[in-house]
Amino acid sequence: MENHHSHNHHHGPHEGVDSAAMAELLDLDANVLHSYLSDVTTWVRQLATDIPRRRVLDLGAGTGTGTIALAERFSRADVIAVDVSEEMLTRVQDKALFGGFAERVRTVQADLNVAWPPIEPVDVVWAALSLHEMDDPEQVLKDVFTTINPGGLLAVVEMDSPPRFLPDDIGLGRPGLEARCHDALEQAQASWEPHPDWGPHMERTGFTIVAKRTFPIDVTPPHPASTGHYARAYLRLIRPVLEGRMATDDLATLGTLLADDGPHSLLHRNDLIVRGTRTAWVARRP
Ligand SMILES: C[S@@+](CC[C@H](N)C(=O)[O-])C[C@H]1O[C@@H](n2cnc3c(N)ncnc32)[C@H](O)[C@@H]1O
Repeated sequence: MENHHSHNHHHGPHEGVDSAAMAELLDLDANVLHSYLSDVTTWVRQLATDIPRRRVLDLGAGTGTGTIALAERFSRADVIAVDVSEEMLTRVQDKALFGGFAERVRTVQADLNVAWPPIEPVDVVWAALSLHEMDDPEQVLKDVFTTINPGGLLAVVEMDSPPRFLPDDIGLGRPGLEARCHDALEQAQASWEPHPDWGPHMERTGFTIVAKRTFPIDVTPPHPASTGHYARAYLRLIRPVLEGRMATDDLATLGTLLADDGPHSLLHRNDLIVRGTRTAWVARRP
């Protein structure tokens, strides 16, 4: 969720972002968008029917929601989760243990902006919401190309826009609050930026595009109980960027939404709808 043009910053992709808050958001994301995660990983597994499926690599694994979904879909494969953050990788290990995948899931700590870690050849690579965070995505694609076996698949997934939760009129403050939040995010060019079309980048690296698909996300009530927590985790994460960029009354409304209690709290609303789209590219190393 960071500016992919920011090649000149050297402070990590989420500087100033509380990593525990990011981890909570990633877990809630998988929880609320469970059917999407299941659909996209099933689709990748189907595209991989004709290739060996011995080893799968999850790049920028975060808390491991993709790692575990992949371990489930690729039922005999070893899954290697790579992330720069030890804290995230500990969560991946906990999930693997809890899910009964400890023997097939391995974690590798590496900063892909600095150096590609030594990894055995793999058959499938998965990079969800992570490629845009790299300082030099083209270099990462080249490294993936050399690590993937001929015939192997690379799946890249990105969010097409910030997730939306709120109706235009939330019965509090001025209508259009969420749209103004997103305008402010765009203005700040932080926390979220449109990703490029990765297709041409993949082709330039030598991959052949197999498929590109956009997955609509539309979680309407009755939705998982965690939806309010998901909306709150997201808005809390972006709030520091919004401060100073939005009108005081909007920030006050946001504060009311983010409160633990009260009828307007995100945790107690029944008008939330999670909307957005995610695009997935699948490419093959010839
Ligand atoms: C937005 S999260 C996505 C996590 C996960 N793939 C998912 O879909 O839930 C991006 C992850 O990429 C990792 N990351 C960012 N830059 C990285 C780098 N240079 N090297 C390795 N991992 C990186 C972050 O630590 C974070 O866990």
